[in-house]
Amino acid sequence: MKHLIDIMDLSVSEIDEILELAGEIIASPEDFSDVCRKKKLATLFFEPSTRTRLSFESAMLSLGGNVLGFSEAQSSSAAKGESVSDTIRVVSCYCDIIAMRHPKEGAPLVAAMKSSVPIINAGDGGHNHPTQTLTDLLTIKRELGRFSGLTVGLCGDLKFGRTVHSLISALSRYENVKFVLISPEELKLPEFNRKEVLERGGIAYSEVTSLEDAMPELDVLYMTRVQKERFFNEADYLRLRDSYILTPEKMALAKENMRVLHPLPRVNEISVAVDEDPRAAYFRQVLNGKFVRMALIMKLLSLGEKERAQK
Ligand code: CP
Repeated sequence: MKHLIDIMDLSVSEIDEILELAGEIIASPEDFSDVCRKKKLATLFFEPSTRTRLSFESAMLSLGGNVLGFSEAQSSSAAKGESVSDTIRVVSCYCDIIAMRHPKEGAPLVAAMKSSVPIINAGDGGHNHPTQTLTDLLTIKRELGRFSGLTVGLCGDLKFGRTVHSLISALSRYENVKFVLISPEELKLPEFNRKEVLERGGIAYSEVTSLEDAMPELDVLYMTRVQKERFFNEADYLRLRDSYILTPEKMALAKENMRVLHPLPRVNEISVAVDEDPRAAYFRQVLNGKFVRMALIMKLLSLGEKERAQK
């Protein structure tokens, strides 16, 4: 049995297989509409979500399966003090696969140790968000056709932004990817990512504060929200929340073929006037998230080989 807790749980060739399968699903979704018949996905969300939970549920329904779960800790027995371990031992009796979001870093790893079915980390605190990374990779692949040789700017809250941490780990495994880390001093990339991934891997990166100066060299700009829920002090959040706002004027500094990604939700960091720019890929990215999660569910449940062989 395989779980997905960290994007590094998948080899590069496994990632490539998932992206390829997602591409096949996009090309002909009806071929996969019955692959998960009689299978059940449980979505256990101890923290708010719109995209991740609903895209997982939509993915399973589109594969012909069923879904159950909860969307907030307060409506589960966690509110009565039940541990993650006990919750998972119970829920894994009711389903075939679990997608779980939790505010505590490491909670999905604890869950995987107790589960009798595959666990997917749907975001743990400020740590990791591997299925968002699969979404991001599919989007870059569909928009630009490659990963190697790209200069990727990551802008905003690089400290608490779990999607940034997972994406850097994933892209660092492709050739000649260069990172430009754009953040205020207080929201710089944490040491565990900078030292363990970038420095240990000999990956080219720079840390800057000016988005305008970075724009002309970027192939991808990955904007992020300042993560209000991870701040201890509201005054710090209010001071930092509008550090970067992407506007049409800043887009004018970028390459013609550059792409803007954002895991969403957006608060104020991308002006709505940018949405109509063809380089704004963040709503196309949302749709990719459903297809890549369909592919991931199939892979973790080892389903769909027959349907693919018949094509
Ligand atoms: N990108 C993302 O994780 O969005 P949600 O918090 O809405 O799931």
